[in-house]
Amino acid sequence: MKANRVLMMLVVLSVVTASVIAACGDVSEEVAEDPISIDGQVLLEERCTDCHSLGRVTGAEKTRDEWEDTVTRMVNLGARLNDEEQTALIDYLAQTYGP
Ligand code: HEC
Repeated sequence: MKANRVLMMLVVLSVVTASVIAACGDVSEEVAEDPISIDGQVLLEERCTDCHSLGRVTGAEKTRDEWEDTVTRMVNLGARLNDEEQTALIDYLAQTYGP
């Protein structure tokens, strides 16, 4: 009788674990799709050229912190970027136009 209980517990535990792993799998699939919809290069070309040329941006060499400051300043000036787009663009700028 006792051994059966332990077995039951193990079965329940493994079912729970399996569904948690399955749920995590779903989440990472959703995250993996995001970079396609938010493309840093497209954002840069579409949103950062309203007021000055692209050369103003591509000629710069900044650390991630400096790009973060710059993008925040540009948003305050009127650049059209929501929070997610800012993060994606800052990542792209830091990778592409680093020091
Ligand atoms: C609403 C107009 C506007 C938009 C949109 C804009 N900028 Fe600017 N940007 C400016 C102005 C004005 C200056 C010069 C004054 C200054 O540096 O604050 C400038 C200067 C810059 C500079 C040179 C100064 C520095 O800090 O190195 C960089 C780099 C730059 N912008 C990057 C960007 C990026 C990246 C974007 C897209 C997120 C962007 N800008 C969008 C107005 C804009």
